[in-house]
Amino acid sequence: LRSTWLTRIADAKDESTLEDARVAALGKKGEVSLKMRELGKMTPEERQVAGPALNALKNELNSALVARKTALADAALEERLRTEWMDISAPSRPGQQGTIHPVSQVTEEVIALFADLGYSVAEGPQIESDWLNFDALNIPSHHPARAEMDTFYMKRAEGDNRPPHVLRTHTSPVQIRHMQAHGAPCRIIAPGRVYRADYDQTHTPMFHQVEGLALGRDISMANLKWTLETFFSAFFGKDVKTRFRASHFPFTEPSAEVDIQCSWENGQVKVGEGNDWLEVLGSGMVHPKVLEAGKIDPTQYQGFAFGMGIDRMAMLKYGIPDLRAFFDSDLRWLRHYGFSA
Ligand code: PHE
Repeated sequence: LRSTWLTRIADAKDESTLEDARVAALGKKGEVSLKMRELGKMTPEERQVAGPALNALKNELNSALVARKTALADAALEERLRTEWMDISAPSRPGQQGTIHPVSQVTEEVIALFADLGYSVAEGPQIESDWLNFDALNIPSHHPARAEMDTFYMKRAEGDNRPPHVLRTHTSPVQIRHMQAHGAPCRIIAPGRVYRADYDQTHTPMFHQVEGLALGRDISMANLKWTLETFFSAFFGKDVKTRFRASHFPFTEPSAEVDIQCSWENGQVKVGEGNDWLEVLGSGMVHPKVLEAGKIDPTQYQGFAFGMGIDRMAMLKYGIPDLRAFFDSDLRWLRHYGFSA
């Protein structure tokens, strides 16, 4: 009996054969278990001999089972180590390296340059109340500027007669939000997306602006001009000609628009040369009514504000002639004009 089972255990070629052997010998109805049950029917003398012998056999078989199981596991591991391997010197599969979009790149540059001038970043939502987008900026309901802005309106539920929210047409509502939350004095810029129903080589229905707001006790138009010129020469890395044109915005008085000298030839745009001008921003001294909407006393504080087209700054700096290409998501374009991360 002993040698039959020991051989069977030692010869088990895998775990399941080994398990079968264990059940056949030591399971409930296993041969050895049945023999142990027969002890009860024996005479005391027989039992005294058979009992210890069977127990010893049971222990011996159990140890043999454990030993065989370990040996099988070791062999399996050896086999895996032999067959499963990896060539760590093989070249890896080519990965896809993304690029940073020129608009993101320029936004970061603008933030960094204004940070040097002491400006911090403020933010506001793209879906804005019409009060913040218009009224608070001195553009009441029937003001012609509302019509000029080609505004996208959000839909209200049937029967809801409150004025609809809008996709903000400019970053200027962030001025009001910041004034209300933090008061004066302040120096902030607010970059972000804005929306207008407009589409051609220099207009897309979604584009990017960065708003600037500086409030203090004696801030003047001269500070505005110095700030913008300092920024432009740092941004373009050279002195570029700018043109400050008297203009009109309901939320500034006086107001000025700023153009940058450039040339558009053979599908190329170059900054700082030629006879063309690209408008890049609107600006002016914050209107007293706007300060009041922001809960700031216009007899105590004044300041300037500007709203700059980020995409247009990118067109000029990197010589990209058509604004529409910025938002086509053409991978070849993105790889060409994008910046490595
Ligand atoms: N909000 C104006 C626009 O989008 C730009 C602007 C901002 C003008 C701040 C003056 C002051 O055209």
